[in-house]
Amino acid sequence: MSDLIPNATLNDGLTIPVIGFGTSRIRGNPGVEVIESAINNGYRLIDSAYNYENEGTVGEAIRRTSVSRKELIITSKLPGRYHEFDKAMITIQESLYRANLDYYDIYLVHWPNPITDKYVEAWEAMIEAKKRGYVRSIGVCNFLPEHMERLKKETGILPSMNQVELHPFFNQKEQRRWHERYEIKTQSWSPLARANQIFENDILQNLASKYEKTVAQIVLRWHYQLGAISIPRSSSPERQLENISIFDFSLEDNDMDKISRLNNPEGRLKGQDPATYEEF
Ligand SMILES: NC(=O)c1ccc[n+]([C@@H]2O[C@H](COP(=O)([O-])OP(=O)(O)OC[C@H]3O[C@@H](n4cnc5c(N)ncnc54)[C@H](OP(=O)(O)O)[C@@H]3O)[C@@H](O)[C@H]2O)c1
Repeated sequence: MSDLIPNATLNDGLTIPVIGFGTSRIRGNPGVEVIESAINNGYRLIDSAYNYENEGTVGEAIRRTSVSRKELIITSKLPGRYHEFDKAMITIQESLYRANLDYYDIYLVHWPNPITDKYVEAWEAMIEAKKRGYVRSIGVCNFLPEHMERLKKETGILPSMNQVELHPFFNQKEQRRWHERYEIKTQSWSPLARANQIFENDILQNLASKYEKTVAQIVLRWHYQLGAISIPRSSSPERQLENISIFDFSLEDNDMDKISRLNNPEGRLKGQDPATYEEF
């Protein structure tokens, strides 16, 4: 199945699959089994975070699978409480130890926390971590254009990707356009809107009937055709497989538009606006 997932190339040259596996809340022994199953089902991009407290779980699943490390793209994220340079460097090292890895493929600053205002320092540590070989590609999550403009101005280096909340109820049109302009890849978190009202939506259900696919497949195909890399999470092996089986059909333009029109400016799942929301 992994052969069927196309790749995308980031602005620093790293090649990654266009769909990955989300792991928030997936921890411990049951979590290892879930991630192992995702890898066996064909996922090669695994998204984790220091704050999910599951880097060890991801590392153990990697150790158990027969898929080689170099075929996998492993992501983790720097928490808001460790944005100061020295703390960030130690945290990245700690992340590696927790997962028992020599390097992360992708490391992301988890939230900008603009009121605390230390994200440029965090970014300087990310640049240093890449120089030291701890990580292959550095990016951010939840950064608004103004935050990334500051990174560019103060360090000269833009992120390879920005992982943002993106689903049919909050489609980030302006943000995506800005990313395209600067060749920053958009990654969609909660791509299935955390299963919140999405599977009951009439428009999506009608499209699922029309294309003879499931609602999840319609939505994940929409992400792909938007050019966004989605990272759906599922604890079920069947749904894991369902979610990557989206490369044998294509949504017509007018159906893409129908999904995009489900957008609501207030559609964030928990109202976490990165201009004001901070997470540590
Ligand atoms: N950077 C950030 O700030 C940030 C924030 C939030 C999330 N994330 C990342 O994004 C990942 C994905 O987002 P998420 O976990 O919030 O939510 P999500 O992937 O949008 O939705 C997960 C939910 O959908 C259900 N589901 C999955 N596939 C399904 C299918 N085919 N049919 C029916 N239900 C299905 C899952 O249930 P089952 O398990 O029962 O299938 C689970 O309840 C996270 O795991 C995390 O890695 C990042």
